[in-house]
Amino acid sequence: MRPSYHFCSATQAFLEGRGPACATPKHPEGTEAAGDPGAEEDGSETGRGAGRRRTAARPGSGCVGPRAGSCSPARPGPSRPRGAARPHRQARPVPGTRAEDTRGQRTPGGGPPCGLRSRPERRARTGRLSGGCPTLRVMWNTVTLCSLGRLPPHTTPPLLPRLQTFNRVFERKYKDLCHGKQPAHILQNQGLKRTRNMLPCRLVSNKAKCRRYTKTYPVLDGRILSVYQHVFEENLRNSEAVIKRYSELLEMVSKGGGENAILRHTQRNKKLFVRERLKLLLDDESFLELSPLAGLNMPYGDVPAAGCLTGIGKICGVWCVFMANDATVKGGTIYPIGVKKQLRAQEIAMQNRLLSVYLVDSGGAFLPLQSELFPDKSHGGRIFYNEAIMSAMRIPQVAVVCGSCVAGGAYVPTMAEEAVIIDKIGTLFLAGPPLVKAATGEYVSPEDLGGAKLHSKVSGCSDHFASSEKEAYECIRNVISTINYDPLPEEVIEHDSPLYSSDELLGLAPRDYRCTLPVKLILSRLMDGSRFQEFKANYGTTLVTGFGHVEGHLVGIVANNGELSHDAALKGSHFVQLCSQRSIPILFLQNTAPHTAEPTSISQAEAHSNRLKAQASMMAAVACAAVPKITIVIGGCYGSESYVMCGRSFSPNFLFLWPNARVALVDSRHFSTVPHTGDNDCTGDESELKQLKEKLEEESSAFYSSARLWDDGVILPQNTRKVIAQCLEILEQQKYQVISPYQYPVLRM
Ligand code: COA
Repeated sequence: MRPSYHFCSATQAFLEGRGPACATPKHPEGTEAAGDPGAEEDGSETGRGAGRRRTAARPGSGCVGPRAGSCSPARPGPSRPRGAARPHRQARPVPGTRAEDTRGQRTPGGGPPCGLRSRPERRARTGRLSGGCPTLRVMWNTVTLCSLGRLPPHTTPPLLPRLQTFNRVFERKYKDLCHGKQPAHILQNQGLKRTRNMLPCRLVSNKAKCRRYTKTYPVLDGRILSVYQHVFEENLRNSEAVIKRYSELLEMVSKGGGENAILRHTQRNKKLFVRERLKLLLDDESFLELSPLAGLNMPYGDVPAAGCLTGIGKICGVWCVFMANDATVKGGTIYPIGVKKQLRAQEIAMQNRLLSVYLVDSGGAFLPLQSELFPDKSHGGRIFYNEAIMSAMRIPQVAVVCGSCVAGGAYVPTMAEEAVIIDKIGTLFLAGPPLVKAATGEYVSPEDLGGAKLHSKVSGCSDHFASSEKEAYECIRNVISTINYDPLPEEVIEHDSPLYSSDELLGLAPRDYRCTLPVKLILSRLMDGSRFQEFKANYGTTLVTGFGHVEGHLVGIVANNGELSHDAALKGSHFVQLCSQRSIPILFLQNTAPHTAEPTSISQAEAHSNRLKAQASMMAAVACAAVPKITIVIGGCYGSESYVMCGRSFSPNFLFLWPNARVALVDSRHFSTVPHTGDNDCTGDESELKQLKEKLEEESSAFYSSARLWDDGVILPQNTRKVIAQCLEILEQQKYQVISPYQYPVLRM
């Protein structure tokens, strides 16, 4: 396992117990150039150095934050020989000087006072975690999940000096908000807008830092030439039509099980609609909903949002995965597609190390489809299996019982690390009152059988009792703030907008593979400042590769620009390895060709085999690249080339489609419906062929794919930049986690 974090030499010395972390001098302009090995080496902020800026500067500098100047310099000199006289201790700092601790308690060595030292810091200082094991930082872990928790032999016990700073800030904030005269809940009751600063949320830096990267990459020419105009307009008309359909579907899904079901849920059952619950759970920021169209037009009917909303949103500043049953859809019962959706959300949580929140309100399995829900490996039971595995991987999970949790559904909160149950709303049992009545003839109320009081006082299946929904979400937010998960530093990354309007992406989204315009026109509308550092610009030009920034995040781009030729595949293979070597996430813009021409000569057949070999090598490079991957299907997702471009089976961290996308083995729109005489493969009359063509066409649409969870959702072309930036930020969060090698889940006692 390759450690991806680098510390400056003095911090390294501190980690090894040789002296305090250095006060890494700040860049005069306030940027954090110092402490970044990349910046030291090449003297610039581009390329490798820029890509590691957060990684290197924050953990390594140790003293970033409000009190950076108060740290002692590093002591790289030789250690005191045995028996030599102890040097004079540093004099106590004079009150008012920088070295003086604001709380008046300074340790003799100039470090922070022991009593105020955070637990992670104390642990790290002694080099121990529970069980005497050192802590371990995670790297991008798409292929390292199985090795998490194992320590490489050379691992040193890392101290995380930034935790020290964060915890000091937290202590100060917590004191002000909760121990002072205005605890957080009072502030909230005053009707003030809830922000992360108002909660006792840890690790909030009160100084937003500013980061800037060098703007030297060449600017792309994104002008749409007049020769492209007719294609542009054709694409635009198609985009408008598919986006209209997309909006209708979203509108339908947003109503859950329909108006009557919502009324029954909110008025008769006195519960909040699932989207209202999310408003109380998440910070007041936009969140990324995953696969909202899942479950539409299934063989067993429409199941809006698969009966369960999933997505990624911030809670107390930390990106979390949420899974929330929608009880207006058949009592929140789990359909096969609902299982698939929850499993995908858990996979995202595992792959990206995101803590997870379950809002459980479910009647358990949708019984008419029980054979598709039980007992296979990827059926319902896998959700509970994953909960244990995630807990063992140190991915915390918490749950709110905000409705019925019957049968299998009862395991979700019971296997979570901490659970809140809501009085008179939440119930939890393996068999409900009707089954008890049928089995024993005795009537027992849901409350007595498995209500909030019973599980909080008697069974211990829940850990917190909430008297209302609002209280429950406040409680779960507080629970999350105790999880010791770090939010991303509050850093403002200065970035430029693209030079061309993102609305023009609608005319660049290909209606058909044959309507594809040069992909650099799309890149010029996605990259910061339309700047792109192209790699091998004149070689294998049917694949465009290079580096750029999206809202300040450095990313490697691999974009189809025609058929994936032999040279293009070799270039792709080389570039993907570069990204992996440099720990740079890769963004695939996929628009693969529906079919390739049949060879008509020996030399063409040879060329085909060579291309096959090159594509196989690129597939291997993509599969094994140990960096996060995001795939956006901007046009065609056809056949085997889609694997090379990191299709679903190649486990990208996120995969989204544009609404114009086509997903199929071949493009059925070009099929002839006229039967060929003597064609054995194509039997049937014209009407049968027409039906087949229609079926294949329908099955190739982006909405068909999204309904079946072959992707993480359809996104609008004009929102693509925002979504990519959000994903890159989510991916980055795992760099800030500290995990221990502890390999057991939390067992409920
Ligand atoms: N399988 C299939 N359908 C179910 C179901 C299940 N397990 N549980 C509920 N439904 C259906 C109901 O038939 C009803 O359908 P309808 O709208 O077409 O009439 C719909 O879900 C809503 O149920 P309803 O009971 O009216 O709603 P509610 O909000 O008052 O209660 C439950 C919801 C889940 C608490 C209640 O339906 C219940 O207890 N269901 C049985 C749960 C169970 O025993 N599950 C065992 C799974 S192994």
